[in-house]
Amino acid sequence: MKNIVILISGGGSNMAAIVQTAEAQNWTQRLNAQVSAVISNKADAQGLVFAKAHGIATAVVDHKAFANQAQPREAFDAALMTEVDTHQPDLVVLAGFMRILTPSFVTHYAGRLINIHPSLLPAFPGLNTHARALEMGCKFAGATVHRVTTELDHGDILAQAVVPVLPNDTSDTLAARVLTQEHLIYPRAVERLLSA
Ligand code: GRF
Repeated sequence: MKNIVILISGGGSNMAAIVQTAEAQNWTQRLNAQVSAVISNKADAQGLVFAKAHGIATAVVDHKAFANQAQPREAFDAALMTEVDTHQPDLVVLAGFMRILTPSFVTHYAGRLINIHPSLLPAFPGLNTHARALEMGCKFAGATVHRVTTELDHGDILAQAVVPVLPNDTSDTLAARVLTQEHLIYPRAVERLLSA
């Protein structure tokens, strides 16, 4: 069985879209693949409730618990890696996981680590993508599924979706329009990788 481990920090709607697609399309039978675990760096991440309700193992590795260490980021990533590895992942899926990962984490999962970013990369890496797209007067916005490399929001592009920017858009209305597309392209990209 191929194991998918999904990392979240909050609502987890992309994670939920992947889980629901896996159920609806019977990935267990068809792809010999399953979502084995959902792991969050925040104990109150709403997505954990959804994952548990769908019978998926969950875990929390709280980044704040490492704040006093000499190298907090490295210590957190090492603990996260240990947790992720207990599920023997074939694919590690970042879905609204709001931590920048260290090179040693990224290297450890080379070739099996992917992310979704709410912009048409290479435009607007980093935070506040929708506000920045509006500020620049972009006529189109979107989302990108990409492989994760040591450079933030870079790496091979696996899928993209484009939406129009409408005249009265705020970053919230634009984010909501982009998010509906994220929920379509992310499960599809995961499915394609598992079928390869
Ligand atoms: C999504 O827009 C994703 O692209 C970005 O953070 C948001 C997370 O949403 N990285 P959710 O937690 O999947 O609902």
